[in-house]
Amino acid sequence: MNRMHEFILEPIPYTKEAPSRALCHMLWDEYTMPNHIRNHSTQVAFVAERIAQALSHISYPLCIESIVASALLHDIAKMYCIENPSYRHNELGALWVLEKTEHRLVAQGVYYHNYLNPEHITLPYHILPVIVMYADSRVQHADIVSLEERYADLLIRYGTTIERRKHIALVKEQALTMEKWITSLLGEHPDTLLSLS
Ligand SMILES: [Fe+2]
Repeated sequence: MNRMHEFILEPIPYTKEAPSRALCHMLWDEYTMPNHIRNHSTQVAFVAERIAQALSHISYPLCIESIVASALLHDIAKMYCIENPSYRHNELGALWVLEKTEHRLVAQGVYYHNYLNPEHITLPYHILPVIVMYADSRVQHADIVSLEERYADLLIRYGTTIERRKHIALVKEQALTMEKWITSLLGEHPDTLLSLS
């Protein structure tokens, strides 16, 4: 059955226990995720957790464990989709995560990690996909970089056509909006949490 409709950006309550790190690592094994994607995902989860912890400290309503799990799993289908390019890695990854964990919120973050239209976001309900998308935008391979660096690198690697370059520019704008929102919620730029400034 196609469960893609389950990823519509509706508010999903934090009623279900988040998949543990151990379960996420088991899923990496099950889907034979290569080491470089594990390293990347670990760093994305680090950035996401720092932001989630800081927001939690100021009583922002979120579930840190769900955000970490979603960040750890966001690229679970990346390698499979490089080898099978008719699939989209965010869609397939979200379906795998939903099937294995039945955690719709964690799967929602996987689904939206590479394209998140700010016009469809209502906070605080969508804070999980906002943080996961933003954290992924800050990690190039396994290094924390600025959004400028990250999208400049994506342009070089994937900007082979005008359409692709337009798409990358659009996603960069989305990530800049997420950065503005997170900065305003935190009262400081997220770099201060990442020991970058
Ligand atoms: Fe990623």
